[in-house]
Amino acid sequence: RKIHHINWHVRNETIAPDGVMREMILVNGEFPGPTIRAKKGDVLQIHVQNDLAAFTQSTSIHFHGLFQRGMNEMDGVPGVTQCGIPSGQDFSYVIDLKQSGTFWWHSHSRLQRIDGMFGGLIVYDPEEAYVLGRDYYEEIFVVLHDHYHNSGDANMEWYLSKESSGFEPVPNNLLINGQGFTDCDRILSRYSCKRSVSGLPTFQFEHGRKYRLRILNASAFAEINFSIDDHILNVIEVDSTEVEEFSTHSIVISPGQRYSVIVEADSNFQSVYMRANMQNSCFRYRPYGYRSNYTTVIEYTSPLETAGVTGLARRLFGQPISAQSSPWSDVLPKEECVDLDVVSLKPKTAVPNVPEPDVRYSISPKTMQFDKRHLAPFGFINRTSFLPAIGAPNLHVALNLINTSDTVPVPTVSGRQNTAIWGGDQLVTQIHLGSVVELIINNDDDSAHPFHLHGHDFWILRVYGETNAGIGKWRPEYISSYVLDNPIRRDVVTIPRLGHAVIRFRADNPGMWAFHCHIAWHLATGMMMQFAVGVDSIDQNTITEQMLEHCAIERGLGTKLL
Ligand code: C2O
Ligand code: CU
Repeated sequence: RKIHHINWHVRNETIAPDGVMREMILVNGEFPGPTIRAKKGDVLQIHVQNDLAAFTQSTSIHFHGLFQRGMNEMDGVPGVTQCGIPSGQDFSYVIDLKQSGTFWWHSHSRLQRIDGMFGGLIVYDPEEAYVLGRDYYEEIFVVLHDHYHNSGDANMEWYLSKESSGFEPVPNNLLINGQGFTDCDRILSRYSCKRSVSGLPTFQFEHGRKYRLRILNASAFAEINFSIDDHILNVIEVDSTEVEEFSTHSIVISPGQRYSVIVEADSNFQSVYMRANMQNSCFRYRPYGYRSNYTTVIEYTSPLETAGVTGLARRLFGQPISAQSSPWSDVLPKEECVDLDVVSLKPKTAVPNVPEPDVRYSISPKTMQFDKRHLAPFGFINRTSFLPAIGAPNLHVALNLINTSDTVPVPTVSGRQNTAIWGGDQLVTQIHLGSVVELIINNDDDSAHPFHLHGHDFWILRVYGETNAGIGKWRPEYISSYVLDNPIRRDVVTIPRLGHAVIRFRADNPGMWAFHCHIAWHLATGMMMQFAVGVDSIDQNTITEQMLEHCAIERGLGTKLL
């Protein structure tokens, strides 16, 4: 077994990813953060040093899509599985890679993820259906993400103020692999804009080769419609589930989701456009003249020129860059914010019959105007809203490691308090180890929510929205229309506005597992619940002295903690 020793420093850095300078929160100064590439069976040992400037600002790393089987304490969710790593302190995440596929990591603290603290995690397995070198020539990691010119905190302040009227902050730009284009003439003078660094990365194809594009949407908010002119996308992986090849002209990808597509470089054009369109229809508020269509170029190179550079992004200065191609005629902005049709996606490892549920829960996510004094949008699930307790993560509480009288209530912007122990404003559902859980998610909101489950993936039995010719809540008669024969399994599902989805999973992984909307604004305002799965079978000794020490530091900071 190979052990990867990785050293990460988390720091505030001022950079200009799209030409506009802003302060960000980065790992080792990289944006996006370092991509980890490893093999199934390897061990990651990631030493994280928190060098953030504010002594009140803790941090954490969550490995999105890894089940962390038997290692709940490594899941990296403050308030749930650990206390944040305090400023000035360090912590090592030690992770057994038991799965393969396209994953990513990100901070699970406050808005650090959208301030730049995320990166890719790719785990290879020789047993996979598509193998580098045999089934495709080269792989290209395409990280799509929306980007704001103000910090997460500044945007949050606006979101919670009455100025927003409850509308989420709309991104200023779309970046690919951390780079973007800004027209400096059209930027407010309070931002400093540097023309020289502005541009989207371009990519190279060699004629006759096959490429695997691993596409991640790391956005705060935007669902993205992705396509390449004159090239078919053959979907082979959905989140980390391998699927039967499914051919399409475009994919829609929600925050948190990943797709792998095989693309055959068989075009007669010398260069073509790669298109990433933010789905305006997913934003409840669309600023006038808002730009949502972004294009970059894939150039064909002759084999000689490509030595060493194929598949690598290279920075191209200044826009527009041009190609001769035009978009597929069916790649239009989607009217509704929905995932790629679940019925057409079939996992390679077929489950002919999804097990019957032992328990069935119904939940409804909601963003609401909460506060009486001023309009404040908050994220809710069944009228609860999650706030991480200071110094008392629920896993520690469940293992009786925290003296509950030690804990500090959390004051918030709206003056809400969370009493630290389950209950309060938290929704924690106890599940017997091994139970099959069915979740019916009724979205009462006028906007979609991409929901992510930790510790497991889930079968999607039904998604219902406007494109299914109607809107509405789940009804018992729908049970007969569930997809039970080898339905898609993934870890993020988009619940359409005013629609619903039904998912099922086998809760076979002991731990305290988060289930939340992956839109940063909704998650940070509490649209999260937890499943306490067979917690009594977890060994107290998995929680180290250092972990408890971090909680003690957090309690010492008390309400000063950011
Ligand atoms: Cu990618 Cu709990 O998140
Ligand atoms: Cu949401």
